[in-house]
Amino acid sequence: MAAHADEPIRLAVGELARFLGADVDDPAFLTDPHRCLTPGIREKSVHRLPGGALAVLGYTACAEVLRDTRFGHGARELYETTLLGLPARSFLQLDAPGHTRLRGQVARHFTARRVRALAENVGYYSTALVREHAGRPGDFVADFAEPLAMSVISDVLGVPPEDRPAFHRDARLVVRGLDQPARAMDERAVAQARFRFVRFFRRRAQARRQAGTRHRAPRDGLLDALSHRPDGSPADIRELVTTCSLLLSAGYDTTVSLLSHAVAELGGAPSGQGWALARDPQTVGAVVEEVLRLHSPVQIAPRAAVRDAALDGLPVARGTIVLPLLPAANRDPDIFDSPHTFRPRRYLAPAAQGRSTARHLAFGAGAHFCLGAALARLTAHSALAVLAACPPRPRDAPRTYSEGVVVRGLRSLPVTWPHRPAERPPHPPADGAAAYVEPSCPIPHAQRSVT
Ligand code: HEM
Repeated sequence: MAAHADEPIRLAVGELARFLGADVDDPAFLTDPHRCLTPGIREKSVHRLPGGALAVLGYTACAEVLRDTRFGHGARELYETTLLGLPARSFLQLDAPGHTRLRGQVARHFTARRVRALAENVGYYSTALVREHAGRPGDFVADFAEPLAMSVISDVLGVPPEDRPAFHRDARLVVRGLDQPARAMDERAVAQARFRFVRFFRRRAQARRQAGTRHRAPRDGLLDALSHRPDGSPADIRELVTTCSLLLSAGYDTTVSLLSHAVAELGGAPSGQGWALARDPQTVGAVVEEVLRLHSPVQIAPRAAVRDAALDGLPVARGTIVLPLLPAANRDPDIFDSPHTFRPRRYLAPAAQGRSTARHLAFGAGAHFCLGAALARLTAHSALAVLAACPPRPRDAPRTYSEGVVVRGLRSLPVTWPHRPAERPPHPPADGAAAYVEPSCPIPHAQRSVT
């Protein structure tokens, strides 16, 4: 997810960090940023920061900001351009009608069928990655989560196999360059990667345009699908490049965060109970929802009041910056019982008990609700199904966390990979209904079942 283009929002985010006492140089803070949500701060759902921006912590107020059209981005079309001649905003940072038009173009190709087909590949990638590292000590983030997430995005975009090694290297730098503090990055390397990255998109789109619409195969990625408008006329290449970059920045780090937090939580659960839930196609969905709630990858979904409004009793003048904190909303004690505890069963209990657990806001809400939510969920279901057959064991070694402002996640998660990985790719649990064939696993069954 890209850091926000607007300077006033950047300043407000800095103020928010000071208000919360958030110190990204303190490893304890990076490990557990929720520690700054003290009961004193929690007392109010909405806080006015010294510069006038609003920090929104409560679940109900966050959901209201995301759903109410009085809060938006204050820009309706792509108008400013960056040094590389590209629009400074993606549709994530636009209001209607520009947002509706550009989101609609992508949504048309992101159908349920296409998403299921993409998720089917995840079982195969996951098995290949597990086999590659079998029997070795490793790092779950570098060995599995990052290459898997990048392969999925490459499938979404339709990056040809021969271009993937270079594309993956550049894309990774580009995404990190958007959200990491400058001191954590080699800025020259990021700038060069960004240049090559944009050139790759432009060349590919131009080649597709020259080929015309005739050769468009149904399994082509978005890069190809979007290179022509529905009436057959060529698309605006600048818009196309910006939209493809958004898909990468929105989908990569977030998926890495989801997968690695899932493995950290499941590996830490007593006597393999967590992995037993992940192994069962009926319950893996609850595991994924609970990881998203407890470790929401996206920290802030910034907005501005586009009209005068009110929030939790506070007047909000037009132009006021409003910062909903999604992880705070997802641990709101008024909404979730034991909000800091990993309890996937909270998402299973409702049917039995006749009451429902609130939906988390990890994918946002309203007009900008995550376009990749179904893909992210199915990716996690399929990957966990493969991993659950022979789970990587967390090693007793330090973990590191990203310093990203917008997306939070593990940078390294030391694990030991099991000796004999899955022998053949399982069926992905499409729609939660497909049967999962458990491959043989050297871990004694007693250690793997639910108690
Ligand atoms: C665990 C994984 C993911 C999480 C937690 C996540 C979270 C989010 C959130 C919170 C938003 C809304 C931000 C806002 O309202 O300001 C969003 C928007 C978006 N996400 Fe995701 N995302 C994930 C994966 C993906 C993937 C895999 C893709 C695509 C490949 C994707 C594409 C998008 C796009 C295009 C938007 C912009 C939607 C719009 O503005 O209309 N996301 N995501």
